[in-house]
Amino acid sequence: MLLGQSPKIESSQLAPHKNLAKVVARHAQHDYRNTIPQYAHEAFAELDKTVRADGRPIILDSGCGVGESSWQLALQYPDHLIIAIDKSAQRLDKSKNHALVSAAVIFLRADLVHFWQLLERSQWPIEKHYLLYPNPWPKPSHLQRRWHGHPIFPSLLKTSPEFILRTNWQIYAQEFALAVEYLRAERFLVQPLKITTPITPFERKYQASGHELFELMIRFAQ
Ligand SMILES: C[S@@+](CC[C@H](N)C(=O)[O-])C[C@H]1O[C@@H](n2cnc3c(N)ncnc32)[C@H](O)[C@@H]1O
Repeated sequence: MLLGQSPKIESSQLAPHKNLAKVVARHAQHDYRNTIPQYAHEAFAELDKTVRADGRPIILDSGCGVGESSWQLALQYPDHLIIAIDKSAQRLDKSKNHALVSAAVIFLRADLVHFWQLLERSQWPIEKHYLLYPNPWPKPSHLQRRWHGHPIFPSLLKTSPEFILRTNWQIYAQEFALAVEYLRAERFLVQPLKITTPITPFERKYQASGHELFELMIRFAQ
């Protein structure tokens, strides 16, 4: 393998997981109430003040990594506030090396499981929610680590009227679409994605490695 190349995803799972419907239905029965640490409450309260004072519509970049997509989104949507979240301090540190004015993007180090729960109780004007190349967790036994198999999923779907998911594992996107259909009775199609200019390091790496890429765009009927 060449330097910087990435192996294709290998999984014994060749179709959407047979337990997906059961798992999603079980998670839909109860509000997910994981204990949120005090520091996460405090960080969110601080950000909440900023968001309310700012007033611009918001685009979320969840799992933003080094923040390359967050800056791209800021260029693409100059009238929006971009909020970019990742749990990795190391990756977020790299996000700051950017020429754009910092007012365009707010980076927050947080666990998305906490952040999305807190978000559900807020009234932020979120327009779009990007999930770019989430960890695929391709082993069948890892279904509940994928976002759509996680108990947070019903809360995640309440965060925005619009989602953009990208992945190099078609089954991940197909399962996400099915999970949405189970919960919201709306069907969205996974599309092959042809990239000319990558907007994230993972996208660049997968493109350079010749992987097929997939996109799921979700726009809920209001
Ligand atoms: C495969 S990387 C993709 C990063 C970036 N979106 C890209 O395409 O280059 C997945 C990212 O999700 C972040 N992540 C995974 N689980 C998370 C969680 N529970 N809370 C916050 N960030 C998380 C990881 O730290 C990592 O940066």
